[in-house]
Order: sequence, then C-alpha cells, then structure tokens
Amino acid sequence: MKRLQGRVAVITGAGSGMGRAAAVLFTREGANVVVADIDEKNGNETVDIVREEGGESTFARVDVSDAKSVEGMVSSAVERYGRIDVLYNNVGIAPVEDTVLPHEIEEETWDRVIGINLKSVFLCSKYVIPEMMKTGGGKIINTSSSAARIWDGSGFSYTASKGGVESLTRLMASRLAQFSIRVNAISPGWAKTPMNAGITMDEELKGQFDRMLLFGMQEPEDVAKVALFLASDDSNALTGAVLAVDNGFTAFKLPQIFL
Ligand SMILES: NC(=O)c1ccc[n+]([C@@H]2O[C@H](COP(=O)([O-])OP(=O)(O)OC[C@H]3O[C@@H](n4cnc5c(N)ncnc54)[C@H](O)[C@@H]3O)[C@@H](O)[C@H]2O)c1
Repeated sequence: MKRLQGRVAVITGAGSGMGRAAAVLFTREGANVVVADIDEKNGNETVDIVREEGGESTFARVDVSDAKSVEGMVSSAVERYGRIDVLYNNVGIAPVEDTVLPHEIEEETWDRVIGINLKSVFLCSKYVIPEMMKTGGGKIINTSSSAARIWDGSGFSYTASKGGVESLTRLMASRLAQFSIRVNAISPGWAKTPMNAGITMDEELKGQFDRMLLFGMQEPEDVAKVALFLASDDSNALTGAVLAVDNGFTAFKLPQIFL
C-alpha cells in the first residue's frame, strides 16, 4: 500500500528544490499534488516530471504572500481534487541583500522576506485549515531553517522569519490538535538547491564548512523523505515537532566562520 494513496497535498514552492523533490516523491506514494508556485514555467515543469512517471499533479500559480492569491489557489485545489489532506508550507526566499548588517537592511527586503517566508504560513494555513476540518483532519508541514537556532550565514529578515515559523508550528499544533490536524516543521541546514547555487566559498571556508556538515549538504530528495514521513500516517505520534534535517549541522559547535 502506498503511503499517501488517495491523499491530496498542496506543496508551495514546488517549482524548484525541495518542494519539487517532495512533489515527485508524494505522487510516487499515491498522492494527488497541487504544485503551488509563483513561477509558471518551473511549476509546470514539476507537473510534467510527475506526469511522466504516471503520477497525478496540477499546477496552481500563486503568490503566497498575497491573501487573494492564496485563497484562489486553495479553492482551485479543492475544486480539482475535492479535499486537502496535506499542506506543505515549503516556500522560502533568502535574498543576498538580506545578509548585510542589521542597520543596513532595507525595509522593502524585510517586508518581502517576512511576507514570503512567514506570512505565507499564516495565509496558506488560514485557507486550508477549514478544508481539513471538513474532512476530519490533516497534516501541515512548515519549513524552518538552521538559521532559527544558530547563525549559519543567513540574513536578518530570513532568520526572523524562520524563528517565527518555529514558534507558529508549536502554537498551531497546540490549537489544532482538537481538529486532528497535526503540525510539524522541517529545519534543513544547507541543501543542494537553486537557493544556494550562487554561493561561492574559498578553499579554507569550504573545508571548514564541509567538516561542520558532517555528512555534506542535504540532497533535496533526502529532505523530501522526511516530508513524506510527516505527511503520512507514520508520523501520527508527532505534532509540534521541529525536525532538524541538516546532516548534523546544528549539532556541531560552530566556529565564527561567517564573520
Ligand atoms: N536550500 C537550503 O539550503 C535551505 C536551508 C534551510 C531552509 N531552507 C528552506 O527550505 C525551503 C525550500 O528551499 P529551496 O532551497 O528548495 O528553495 P528554492 O529556491 O529551490 O525554491 C523556492 C521556490 O519558491 C517559489 N517562490 C518564491 N516566491 C514565491 C511566492 N511569493 N509565491 C509562490 N512561490 C514562490 C520559487 O519560484 C521557487 O520555485 C525554503 O523555505 C527555504 O527557506 C532551505
């Protein structure tokens, strides 16, 4: 029996990286997946990959920081598949202009990062939770980052957004348990996705970095396997948990290599 047979999952940011890997894995396990992304070309490419394997998926264009857009995405998902069992709040951005000193951050950067990384969790959950209530429950998976617990080179607004995601995860889990909705979060460290494609390191920094990661950077597919666990009945004993899927990154005492 496939682990998500007949379930409907909405995955935000599924046009790329870990979201795309999850879309592929979830559909292999029998789910119908709504690929919710702002990037039409990449989103449709994910759908094509899934369909080539014989899976069922559809693209929904959405700006996760905009309430009207999220409401439209959720109603089109319900129109198409009749229900939503899993919401994977995977979207996130980490713009380079966010990595300056705190007093140098532009207000526009703060608003954009908080809007896409944190407000999106509120908005997508706001419109999906009533649908889950109608069918007797569901699973929400949020996406944090090692940045929520350590300084890993991430930016100011990004770090604030991920701290917010972790706090929200615990609160949502507590308030939604009565409706059989479980809420957990995945906290990656450094994953091999387009988000990190532009980062360059000199040899010394790369050597330190590789030692800290213990088992290297995470493959998107490895993170997707944990998302599958959280989406499936195998994780029914978990709610309010934040799983560090970071190859030991946050277990390591970090030297100040990013200064
Ligand atoms: N890559 C890492 O090393 C790393 C580490 C820790 C946490 N994370 C988190 O994991 C998640 C996935 O990261 P990734 O590296 O796979 O990302 P990615 O950059 O590969 O993909 C992000 C996707 O989000 C979409 N997107 C951006 N803004 C959007 C918006 N307003 N509305 C809808 N879609 C939008 C993009 O089009 C893209 O398809 C993010 O939340 C990120 O913060 C990533």
